[in-house]
Amino acid sequence: MDLLREHDIDPSPLVGARVAVLGFGNQGRAQSLNLNDSGIDLVVGLRRDSPSEAAVRGAGIEVAGLEDAVSGADVVMMLAPDETLGGLYRDIEPCLRQGAALGFSHGLAVHFGQISPRADIDVYLVAPKGPGTALRSLYTEGKGMLGLWAVAQDATGQARQIALAYGRAIGCARAGLMQSSFAEECEADLFNEGAVVWGAVPEILVAGFDVLVEAGVAPEVAYMECIGELKLIAELIEARGVAGMREAISNTAELGAVLGGPRVVDDHVRERMREVLDEVRSGRFAKALSDEAASGYPQLKAARARARALEVERARRSLEP
Ligand SMILES: NC(=O)c1ccc[n+]([C@@H]2O[C@H](COP(=O)([O-])OP(=O)(O)OC[C@H]3O[C@@H](n4cnc5c(N)ncnc54)[C@H](OP(=O)(O)O)[C@@H]3O)[C@@H](O)[C@H]2O)c1
Repeated sequence: MDLLREHDIDPSPLVGARVAVLGFGNQGRAQSLNLNDSGIDLVVGLRRDSPSEAAVRGAGIEVAGLEDAVSGADVVMMLAPDETLGGLYRDIEPCLRQGAALGFSHGLAVHFGQISPRADIDVYLVAPKGPGTALRSLYTEGKGMLGLWAVAQDATGQARQIALAYGRAIGCARAGLMQSSFAEECEADLFNEGAVVWGAVPEILVAGFDVLVEAGVAPEVAYMECIGELKLIAELIEARGVAGMREAISNTAELGAVLGGPRVVDDHVRERMREVLDEVRSGRFAKALSDEAASGYPQLKAARARARALEVERARRSLEP
C-alpha cells in the first residue's frame, strides 16, 4: 500500500490552473474553502437562482453559472449529488476546455456508465473518507482527512499529477492519499453505507433500544446505554483500533462483548452483507438511486418521516440539556 503524504506530492500542476467546483453542499463547501485557503484560483459553479450563492460570496469565493465556471476552468470538480451527475455532465460537456480535467469525489457516476467522458479530458477521483464538515474542520486545525485517489482516463498524461495535487490542496495528503480505482472506491463506499456504518449501525442501535424498552427499561436509560455510548466506542476505536478498544474497557464489558457480539453479528448477518455487496456490484443500487431521484425521492422522504417519529427520538429530546 502506497500512502502518499504532502511531501510526496508536487503541488505545481494546480499552480496557475483555474479550478471550478460545481456545487456548494457538503463536499463542495468544504473542498472550496480548503482550496481557497490553499491559494488555488477558484470559482464555484452554481445553478441559476441557487440558494447557495450568498454563502459562496460570503466566503469571499468567486461564483458563476455552471457553464461559465466550466468554460473558464482547467479542472472541474463535480460535487453535486451523485444521482444528478449524469445530467449535469451532459449539460456542461460542450463547455469543457480541450484537455481539461474532470474530478469526482465518488466513483458511482463514472463506474456505472452514467457519464461517458469525452476522450480528450482527464478523469480523476479524490474521495475524502468522511463528511465535508470534518474535511473542513480538520483542515482548519492544520490536519487532514484520509482520502482515496484514482484515474479513470488519462488523456493528457497529467491526470495522476492533477489528482494528487488536488487531494493535497484540499488537505487529504496531510493524513494520506491512497490509490484506488473508481470501481473499488465506489463499491466499498456503497457497501459500507448500506451494510456497515451508515446502514447497519443505526439499525442495531435502535433495535437494542427497542428490546430494552419492550422489556420495561425506561426509554431514557435505554437511550443512554444503547445510543449515548456510540461516540465513546468510536473514539476508542479511532485512537486504539478494535483490539485496543477491548483492552480499554472493563472485564465486565469485554466479556459481555465477547459472548454477545458474535451471536448478534453471526453468519446470517454476513450473508445479508454479501447480498448488499452483490446489489452494489451488479449496478442494481445505482439504478435504484436514479429511479428514486426520478420519482421525487419517495423512499427517502418516507424513511425520514419514520425516523423522526421513533420513540428513540423522543427519548433523545428529553435528555437534551
Ligand atoms: N456528503 C459528504 O460529505 C460526502 C463525502 C464523501 C464524498 N461525497 C461525494 O461528494 C459529492 C457531492 O456530495 P454532497 O453530499 O456534497 O452533495 P450535496 O451536499 O447534496 O450537494 C448539494 C450541492 O449540489 C448542487 N446541486 C444539486 N443538484 C444539482 C444539479 N442538478 N446541478 C447542479 N448542481 C446541483 C446544489 O445546488 P444548490 O446550491 O442550487 O441547491 C448544492 O450546491 C458526491 O459525489 C458524494 O458522493 C460526499
